[in-house]
This record gives sequence, structure tokens and C-alpha cells, in this order.
Amino acid sequence: PTIHFVLKDGNTRSVDAPIGQSVMEAAILNNVRGIDAECGGCASCATCHVYVDPAYFERLPEPDDMERELLEGVAAERRPTSRLSCQIALVAELDGLVIHVPATQA
Ligand code: FES
Repeated sequence: PTIHFVLKDGNTRSVDAPIGQSVMEAAILNNVRGIDAECGGCASCATCHVYVDPAYFERLPEPDDMERELLEGVAAERRPTSRLSCQIALVAELDGLVIHVPATQA
């Protein structure tokens, strides 16, 4: 699936990533700036926080308890569309996914 990352500076980076990869991994492997992912994807750092475009947000499975808890402590403003990108696994229906990178992760 193709993911469009809208960066802090307003530019968009589009990357193609394989099914099964997380949005966080796709960002890191393609050097998308603004997603730190300090814990490497084990849902303990919250520095992979992103805003999911509303059109796609509804297609995602609900966050589990651990993700919900971590979302309480994100560095940037938490919004209704906030998610941890390491917990979003790519599936075919997410092709065209638009992800907004938050202002800060620290
Ligand atoms: Fe650490 Fe997602 S990479 S919580």
C-alpha cells in the first residue's frame, strides 16, 4: 500500500510499503522525518505518534489498552485521530493512507 506522510513543513512524502509492515517501520525505513520510534515498535515509547486522516481512521482496528494508555502521554497535542504508528499494520484496504506527522515527539 502507498502511504502519504504529510510532514511538519507541509510537504508530503509518499512511500510504498509491503502488507504487514507497520506505518512506523515504513516511515523509519524511508527516512520520513518526525517519527522517532525510540522503542523500536514495542509500544512503550509513544514517540511514533501520528494523526491518521479521518477518511482512514475508521478503517483501523481499535487501539488496545497499552496503546490507549500511551496515547495519554504523547508529546504533541492529542487529537481524536491520534494513533501510535507502530501499532498500525498495513493491509490492502489502507492503500492511499494519509498520515499527518505531529509537531513534536519529545
Ligand atoms: Fe515506541 Fe511505537 S515505536 S510506541
